[in-house]
Amino acid sequence: LSRHSFPKGFTFGTAASAYQVEGMAHKDGRGPSIWDAFIKIPGEIANNATADVSVDEYHRYKEDIDIMKKMNFDAYRFSISWSRIFPEGTGKVNWKGVAYYNRLIDYMLKRGITPYANLYHYDLPEALEKQYNGLLSKRVVKDFADYAEFCFKTFGDRVKNWMTFNEPRVVAALGYDDGKFAPGRCTNCSAGNSATEPYIVAHNLILSHAAAVQRYRNKYQAKQKGRIGILLDFVWYEPLTDSKGDQAAAQRARDFHVGWFLHPIIYGEYPKSMQEIVKERLPKFSSYEIKMVKGSIDYVGINQYTSYYIYNPRQPQNQMPSRYQLDWNAGFAYERNGVPIGPRANSDWLYIVPWGMYKAVTYVKEKYGNPTVILSENGMDYPGNVTLKEGVHDTKRVNYYSSYISELKRAIDDSANVIGYFAWSLLDNFEWKLGYTSRFGLVYVDFKTLKRYPKMSAYWFQKTLAPKN
Ligand code: GCO
Repeated sequence: LSRHSFPKGFTFGTAASAYQVEGMAHKDGRGPSIWDAFIKIPGEIANNATADVSVDEYHRYKEDIDIMKKMNFDAYRFSISWSRIFPEGTGKVNWKGVAYYNRLIDYMLKRGITPYANLYHYDLPEALEKQYNGLLSKRVVKDFADYAEFCFKTFGDRVKNWMTFNEPRVVAALGYDDGKFAPGRCTNCSAGNSATEPYIVAHNLILSHAAAVQRYRNKYQAKQKGRIGILLDFVWYEPLTDSKGDQAAAQRARDFHVGWFLHPIIYGEYPKSMQEIVKERLPKFSSYEIKMVKGSIDYVGINQYTSYYIYNPRQPQNQMPSRYQLDWNAGFAYERNGVPIGPRANSDWLYIVPWGMYKAVTYVKEKYGNPTVILSENGMDYPGNVTLKEGVHDTKRVNYYSSYISELKRAIDDSANVIGYFAWSLLDNFEWKLGYTSRFGLVYVDFKTLKRYPKMSAYWFQKTLAPKN
C-alpha cells in the first residue's frame, strides 16, 4: 500500500474538531457552547474532565501542523468554533477568534497543508440554547447560515473545502434521544421527548445545512472556486442472516442512520421506510425547502469506523430504551454463530471490521448515484491509561489503518468516486463522554505536559504517504 496505489490528486489528511483539541475554552473572548454547559454536570464525563485546556492546539498549532507535514499528510480537516467567532451565536464578532483561525489557516498554507474547514462539530453556542432551545427551533436555520456566510466571506479566499455539519445523526440521536451528548435531552432525563425531538432536530440540521450551501453557491462559490458538503457517520449494517426479515431490518437501519440525511440531500425526501414508520412525527419539507435541500452537496464526507449485524426482532423490543430506537425495529448483534464480528477497540461501540469499509463506500455508490465522497474519518482508540511506551507501540492501530485503507482502495478500484481520506486523529484528545480515557491519536499526548510523541502509526503513514517509494 502506498499513496501511488490511489488515483492522482487523492488527498490524505487527519481530522479533528475545535472543542476536542483547541483548549482556551473560556479565553480570548470565546463564548460557551452547549458542551461547556454539559461537561459541568457531575458524572457526565469520565473523571469529570473538561476541555478547557485539552491539548492546547490554540497555542501549539504550528507544532501540530509541522508534525502533519513531517508525516507526509496533504490536508487537515479542522473545525471552527461558532462561539469563538460569535460568542452570543449572532451579532457581535470576537475578532480574537477570527485572528486565531487566520493564523491557523495561514500556517497550514505556508506549510503546504490544505485546509478542510468544518463549520459545526457538536458545539452550538450556549446563548442560542438558552434563547430558543437551539436546534429544536427553526430559528437556528438563519443564525447558522449567517455564521456560515461570515466564515465564507472571511476565510473563503484561502479555504476551498467546506463542510457544514459533522455527524448530524449523532447530534440528533445522542443529544435528544439517549442524552449522552449535549444538550443531554432524553425521555428518561429531566427533559426531552424521544418520539419527536430527534426528528425535529435532524430536520432543522438539514435545513441549516442547505441554507448555508445556498448562501455559498449564490454569493461566494463562483469567485472563490471552492466546494461544500456535509459529514455523515456511517456504521455499516450487515444482515445477520440472509433471511428476508434480517435483510429488511438491515435496510431499515441504514435508512434511519445514513438515509435520514443523505436521502433528502440526494433525492429530496426522507427514505420511504422512515415515512411509513414515523408518519406524522416526521417533519415535512415544503416545496421551497425541497428545492433548497435536493442537490445541496458537492461532496459527502463519510466517517467510517465500525460495523454491526442487524436482525429482525421477533418480538416487541422492550429492552429498547426509547421510542426513536423502537422506530428502527432492528436488533443489533456483535457476533454470528458465536464468531465476533471483529475485535473490539477501547470504545465499546468500536468493533474492528475492515470489510465494512468496502461495503459502506460501495453502498453509497450504488444507492446514491456514485456521489463524490471524502472518507472523512477513520480510526481506533486505545485506553487512556496506557503508558507512553505502550502508547507509541500501537501495532493494532497500524493493522487497523492498513486493512481499512486497503478495503477503501478496493472500493475505489471498483469505481467508487472517493477523492480523499482522513485519519481520526493526529493527536490523542478530548473524546467527549470518555474525556481523556480514550486515545485516538497517531501521536501520543502526555496530558500533563502536553508533549507530543509520534506513535508507530504516525511513522506508518509517513512511509506509506512518502512522495517517492
Ligand atoms: C465525530 C466523532 C469524533 C470522535 C471520533 C472518535 O463526530 O466526528 O464523534 O469527534 O472523536 O469519532 O469517536
